[in-house]
Amino acid sequence: MEYDLQTARRQEELYLIGNYGRLPVLFVRGHGTRLWDDTGREYVDFVSGLGACVAGHCHAEIIAAVARQTSQLIHVTNLFYTRPQGELAEMLARYSFADKAFFCNSGTEANEAAIKLARKYMREVRGEERYKVVSALRSFHGRTFGSLSATGQPAKTGPFEPVTPGFVHVPFNDLQALEEAVDEATCAVILEPIQGEGGVYVADVPYLRGAREISRRKGALLVLDEVQTGMGRTGALFAYEHYGIVPDMMTLAKGLAGGLPIGALLATSEVAEGFKPGDHGSTFGGNPVVCAAALAVLTVLREEQLVDNAARVGGYFKRELEKLAVETGALKEVRGMGLMLAAELEEPVAREVVLRCLESGYVVNNIGDAVLRFLPPLSISTREVDGLVERLGAILVEVVSGCESHGG
Ligand SMILES: Cc1ncc(COP(=O)(O)O)c(C=O)c1O
Repeated sequence: MEYDLQTARRQEELYLIGNYGRLPVLFVRGHGTRLWDDTGREYVDFVSGLGACVAGHCHAEIIAAVARQTSQLIHVTNLFYTRPQGELAEMLARYSFADKAFFCNSGTEANEAAIKLARKYMREVRGEERYKVVSALRSFHGRTFGSLSATGQPAKTGPFEPVTPGFVHVPFNDLQALEEAVDEATCAVILEPIQGEGGVYVADVPYLRGAREISRRKGALLVLDEVQTGMGRTGALFAYEHYGIVPDMMTLAKGLAGGLPIGALLATSEVAEGFKPGDHGSTFGGNPVVCAAALAVLTVLREEQLVDNAARVGGYFKRELEKLAVETGALKEVRGMGLMLAAELEEPVAREVVLRCLESGYVVNNIGDAVLRFLPPLSISTREVDGLVERLGAILVEVVSGCESHGG
């Protein structure tokens, strides 16, 4: 039977809970930086599954790893040992500050685990009753209750009040506010090196360094939420590398298995001591198939030098967007690092711009009314960037009123 956009829309209306505002396209195939819809139309993807498909769509190495693993063993649970999980933990320890890993299925679960481990570590290892978690306003840490409580966006938490007690939010990039908020009851400070869902706001170097110093001096743990910034997205394998600091814990998800559902909490061995058997767990977490995929992602990132590509093409992309801002007068600000970029519009027309880009064969994302976000696969080329920027320029001139007067 034919399956087309109309069928998908009907099924959504009848059978799916309406928590997503979907764009009018039915994707059926992907390869590298390209996607195809049900009519055979090709698109260049600047969203990559909200930053998950770091190695591009349907990479041969990932397909092979998943096929190999699914033909051998799909699932047994964490009652038993499996090879891909141990190997992935070892690789992540080799590539990061961390010694140990816990695997789950998403970013929000990775942050839940971090919050639980922070509290348990304080009780178990330090013998201290510290429960308070300090995070930033405008932050996003996930949708489950612990991570939602850490999320500093009243619009996201408000409808679900009361959220979990013990969470405090302070303005981002404000060291004085952090200094005042972290006290003897604080078990953890949790921050994104770049606030992604909040609109792509980059942490200043003195801020993250200061956060490291404050949390250490006051006996709290520093947790970096690298769910969106991790796995090469910012032009370093992990964004903390840009700052010359190391956290006590880091959470990963999105790009880790290249589009398959995985989350990870990484910690130093001292902090990891907080969890004993039975303290935390997940039926599917660290499943052999997703871990095999994640191992393949690490191989592809290394072999194809995709992290360097993210730094190089990301730098070029940012400069081109900055030029576009001057030429069109339609962009207020360009933000971000590597291939995690945003352009804030002068007018609240982001959704319309996204739709016009889609009509032109470019998949881009908007955050709210005024921010365009770009999270392409890390294999994106400068030519593909040129194509988007040229098209975007024309769209901005058409959509954002008055921008012709700036001479674009
Ligand atoms: C920084 C950050 N943390 C946590 C999450 C939640 O991840 P997930 O949607 O996999 O639960 C996201 C998702 O966008 C994120 O950007």
